[in-house]
Amino acid sequence: MQKPPQTHWLLYCRSGFEQDCAQEALRQAKQQKPIIGAEQPAIVAGSGYVVVALNEQKLSYRELIFTRQLIRLHRSIATLPERDRLTPILDAIATLPGNFGTLWLEAPDTNEGKLLSTFTRRFQPLLETALREQGRLQDDPRSTRLHIFFPDKTSVMIGSSDPHNSADAIMGIVRQSMPAEAPSRSTMKLAEAIEVFMDRSEQTRLLRQGMQAVDLGAAPGGWTWQLVRRGIRVIAVDNGPMKGALINHPLVQHLKQDGFKYAPRKAVDWLVCDMVEKPSRVSLLIGEWFVAGWCKHAIFNLKLPMKQRVAALDSALGGIRTRLDAEGINYRMIAKQLYHDREEVTVFLTKTKG
Ligand SMILES: C[S@@+](CC[C@H](N)C(=O)[O-])C[C@H]1O[C@@H](n2cnc3c(N)ncnc32)[C@H](O)[C@@H]1O
Repeated sequence: MQKPPQTHWLLYCRSGFEQDCAQEALRQAKQQKPIIGAEQPAIVAGSGYVVVALNEQKLSYRELIFTRQLIRLHRSIATLPERDRLTPILDAIATLPGNFGTLWLEAPDTNEGKLLSTFTRRFQPLLETALREQGRLQDDPRSTRLHIFFPDKTSVMIGSSDPHNSADAIMGIVRQSMPAEAPSRSTMKLAEAIEVFMDRSEQTRLLRQGMQAVDLGAAPGGWTWQLVRRGIRVIAVDNGPMKGALINHPLVQHLKQDGFKYAPRKAVDWLVCDMVEKPSRVSLLIGEWFVAGWCKHAIFNLKLPMKQRVAALDSALGGIRTRLDAEGINYRMIAKQLYHDREEVTVFLTKTKG
């Protein structure tokens, strides 16, 4: 029997989460078809990326929690000559079919990877000019992107991504700047979640002035700040103190209560929750809020255990799905380990019409 063809995928992830990233991708593939004859995934702990070999299974970027970027890997060059890196890379690209809409030069999101940024910045215009002259690069953000990924200075992986099935950001990182007035760096987590999970029209529709929100585990107030700056009223629940501009803010009511016991008097539009608790406990709480009809939309954080992270997430998110399905509630739920997430992932859950 002929061996099925192998397709290699290059996935970027947070450093330290390579195992989880590969495990999740392989599981998604196996749910479509058994993987036959493909080599084991190449995992280097702490590298910030993994390579998985599949047959013809397709990976869906949106459903992969730990994958920052999804790239189909075409060529790898293990040793690039130091004097001329350009020629072998151009030769490898010449063997690929079609043209490309964008060129992204990337390196792992690790301390070693950061040292490569000066090199990639200098190399980018050289490669770009050469590819333009060959007519291989057209400025079209909707067509296939070409990724030139340098795991280190002497090797390169060449791949492509489909703009409809990948992150629309270099290195898969939707960067945020720290607003000077925000009381904590966590504010960037909610800002990123809003950018990643909602398109522009959804942001305008779902985050409107005059809406009401509850923030569980709100102190010192980074998430609350993101909401009030959009004109949303917030009930901030936390035994800890709110800081800076959020002390006595006209749109904020601070309640020193236990977030697991708090129930709103009236339904609100939004629930956001960043309490440091077991994912099983937080997911139960979120399920309760939706079943009780206390909110329409939620963004919440699930802190990950040290081990069996994929299993813990499966159980937490599966629990919410089972609960909402049993109640006949229609919803959309997306989970991602965002750039500003550490040992945690962020989830967006919204009620949808039938
Ligand atoms: C990671 S911090 C939240 C940071 C916040 N999102 C921000 O942007 O500034 C977690 C907060 O959850 C609060 N917390 C933990 N357990 C809680 C509970 N049962 N009820 C209310 N707050 C809780 C802690 O007091 C702490 O302030």
